[in-house]
Amino acid sequence: MQVSRTVAGWLARRLSLSPASIGFVPTMGALHCGHASLVKRSRAENELTVVSIFVNPAQFNDPTDLERYPRTVAQDLALLEELGVDEVLMPPAAEIYPFGRRFHIEEESLTQVMEGVSRPGFFQGVMTVVLKLLNLVRADRAYFGEKDYQQLEVIRDLAKEFFVPTEIVGCPTVRESSGLAASSRNLLLSPAGREKAAEIFRVLRTAADPLQAKTKLSEAGFTVDYVEEHFGRRFAAAHLEGIRLIDNVPLG
Ligand code: PAF
Repeated sequence: MQVSRTVAGWLARRLSLSPASIGFVPTMGALHCGHASLVKRSRAENELTVVSIFVNPAQFNDPTDLERYPRTVAQDLALLEELGVDEVLMPPAAEIYPFGRRFHIEEESLTQVMEGVSRPGFFQGVMTVVLKLLNLVRADRAYFGEKDYQQLEVIRDLAKEFFVPTEIVGCPTVRESSGLAASSRNLLLSPAGREKAAEIFRVLRTAADPLQAKTKLSEAGFTVDYVEEHFGRRFAAAHLEGIRLIDNVPLG
């Protein structure tokens, strides 16, 4: 497994690669079984798999959230090696944003609900970095989890809008045995909190409507940001032990 820690180093490396197909899994590290499933899918569908690990400062509207975002680089690299990843891209922020925040992408529709409202600037940061990473990697396919379903839909349209030739592939949410959606943020929960967090999935599936789901989650001790229905799915974002968790399920 080759690890590129600079943009220039990666671009030189990319020039030397000419596999039949490249699969790309962009991540912010703190890898878990959800990321592993994306890597496995990429490996099954492509000759070569590239993973990026980049904690994107531009998508954090809260500096405390950025600071405490879990960073487990040594473990991440060991896992990627074990999974058979070919290339890892770990660029420094100054190289991903050579002009600071001078350039960024805005979207006026899908990003105006849910995560876009609760986390101002979040989608601007995600879209900007994803476009940069897609341009750097020039993959045939890029893999994103359905846990971040709104993000997936936004990225699909972003790729179409900017004529990015990479196919955007959505992959099912991986869940812990309790039903809790796999997420890097789960690492920040206490063992009891981790058990309780599975309530989000249960309530999303069983509540009669978003209002009832919101009430049930509040009664269970969550601080609810939203429960809403879009794209034929029901979505929730809620805080537990000060950690923000999101999930979604298909309706019906
Ligand atoms: O879903 C994530 O981990 C991030 O939003 C992404 C797509 C890697 C962009 O930083």
